[in-house]
Amino acid sequence: MKSCILGTGSYVPDRVLTNADLEQMVTTSDAWIVERTGIRERHVVAEGQACSDLAYVAGKRALADAGVYAEDLDLILVATCTPDSPLPSTACLVQHRLGATRAAACDISAVCCGFLYALAIADSFVRAGSRKILVIGSEVMSVLIDWTDRNTCVLFGDGAGAVVVGQSSTETGILSIHLHADGNHADLIQVPGGGSSCPASGKTLSQKLPYIKMKGNETFKTAVKTMESSVREVLSANGLTIEDVGVFVPHQANLRILKAVSQRLGLPFHKTVINLDRFGNTSAASIPLALDEGVKNGAIQTGNLVLLSAFGAGLTWASGLIRW
Ligand code: ACO
Repeated sequence: MKSCILGTGSYVPDRVLTNADLEQMVTTSDAWIVERTGIRERHVVAEGQACSDLAYVAGKRALADAGVYAEDLDLILVATCTPDSPLPSTACLVQHRLGATRAAACDISAVCCGFLYALAIADSFVRAGSRKILVIGSEVMSVLIDWTDRNTCVLFGDGAGAVVVGQSSTETGILSIHLHADGNHADLIQVPGGGSSCPASGKTLSQKLPYIKMKGNETFKTAVKTMESSVREVLSANGLTIEDVGVFVPHQANLRILKAVSQRLGLPFHKTVINLDRFGNTSAASIPLALDEGVKNGAIQTGNLVLLSAFGAGLTWASGLIRW
């Protein structure tokens, strides 16, 4: 039994933070941000808006798109590194609000690869007999940002995307997803404080430890290498070539990374769905947000071979193929 995507949905908060706004906050310029990243603006939550609020709307929209009732869900997975709180899981909060009374629920933590990790788990559950699974990537990255650090504050945004995964009796569906991790490079992107190794306190806050620290240059090079290698892996595992790919939906971190990956793979760049110019890097939400947009604007059509690829903190990296 193969799994397939029955419907997609997404949600971003109303408030837009432009590069011009950031020029007022740190020493930067719209020209630098656009040239070095491709990002022009990002959405950020209103006060009081949490990860589960974004996830709930995206999930509800995906269910409506799929024509699936919340009561029919077997499982809800929320990929996030910015849950509402350490416990309970954000997935349980979403389960309650959706009224998905039969569904088990838990969060998945793999940062920018979180959605692909969660989708791979959903795929395995469906192959093992589950019928309907809601997979959501939802992030409030703005809470992990030191808004005085120009190296990171220009990169990230808030948002959520969701898919409903079900059983496929045709050729369409998820062909395979390949996951990787290497904790040896945990120091490339990290939030050093706020967890059990360095609990939140006045001291950790004054040292700005509960915020993202990133070695940008090294991350950039590793991202290009790992995305290229895992795309080659998933194509080879399915006996396909880059020419077979109809649409590329990558994790949206940096336009230059995506151009370099496409060039190395020999993939025409017009096949890549790009929305980082409007949303920035939304971590686990990035691929499902782009997927939903690609489906709704017609970039992704039935029969297309859709390639997904991501990398992120951990390090983690992953690629998958879906016959749409
Ligand atoms: N505005 C202006 N200047 C800046 C800014 C800014 N916002 N940020 C950095 N600079 C300066 C630096 O200080 C440096 O100045 P210096 O030469 O005087 O020292 C100069 O610009 C160049 O800095 P670099 O870091 O070399 O710039 P680079 O071209 O590498 O771009 C960037 C930086 C955009 C962060 C890039 O390295 C990148 O995208 N890396 C990958 C990030 C990523 O993809 N992360 C994803 C994972 S996130 C996750 O998993 C949660």
